[in-house]
Amino acid sequence: MQERLQKILSQAGIASRRESETIITDGRVAVNGTVVTELGAKADPETDSITVDGKAVTIDEKRVYVLLYKPVGYMTTMKDPEGRPIVTDLLTGIKERVYPIGRLDYNTEGLLLLTNDGALANTLMHPSHEVDKGYLVRVSGHVSPHQIKMLSEGVKLEDGMTAPAKVLPVSESEQNCWISITIHEGRYRQVRRMCEAVGLSVVRLKRARYDFLVIGDMKPGEFRLLEPAEVAKLSRKTAAGSGRGPRKTGVLAKRAPVKRR
Ligand code: URA
Repeated sequence: MQERLQKILSQAGIASRRESETIITDGRVAVNGTVVTELGAKADPETDSITVDGKAVTIDEKRVYVLLYKPVGYMTTMKDPEGRPIVTDLLTGIKERVYPIGRLDYNTEGLLLLTNDGALANTLMHPSHEVDKGYLVRVSGHVSPHQIKMLSEGVKLEDGMTAPAKVLPVSESEQNCWISITIHEGRYRQVRRMCEAVGLSVVRLKRARYDFLVIGDMKPGEFRLLEPAEVAKLSRKTAAGSGRGPRKTGVLAKRAPVKRR
């Protein structure tokens, strides 16, 4: 994000904002190799090379990791051209600029991780890390064993076959059925498209697990910071290379039972 140079210098701990103005007007600051002396000038500390007296300026921002229960009706983008609410609107009190790791559809609810740790975010989103994501899906009507089998073995979508998934029936009423689907891919609207492909109509979609992080009794709109041990576990996992630990037994492996609705 573009910021005034004096703000960047003070955030980087070079000097106070007032002193930074003098440093700028004295011609000691360069942006991408060009000396800048105007006080209104802006730069982006993430993408521009900023130097003072030839030395690189770096902002050591505190790393923040947020686990949010995204409610339905929020966009996982940083801005919405249609003016719809965005997930970061919910993060009251978080000063750092955090970004969602991956996406959940506007109409999907559930666990979403946000961070300003670009390296960890990129690693977790990379297909080679294949983090398990567990979804609870309410579909209208009933789900047959054959549909469960097809979802589990992989279904053909426009962008190719889906990888095998862990699919389990959870509960059913006369009108609806809940199933759990655990996937490690992260294709666009994947769970909805998988269900459509086998003739199921999704009425509600909730991500209840992201790797070892489970939704537990969090409520829509609630968020918490990850514990240092949780961050370490995620980082260890990604540092390990493949990121695939031993397979877990589905979205219900570690969470409160889903009640019949
Ligand atoms: N699959 C979907 O269809 N939507 C999501 O938001 C996440 C997974």
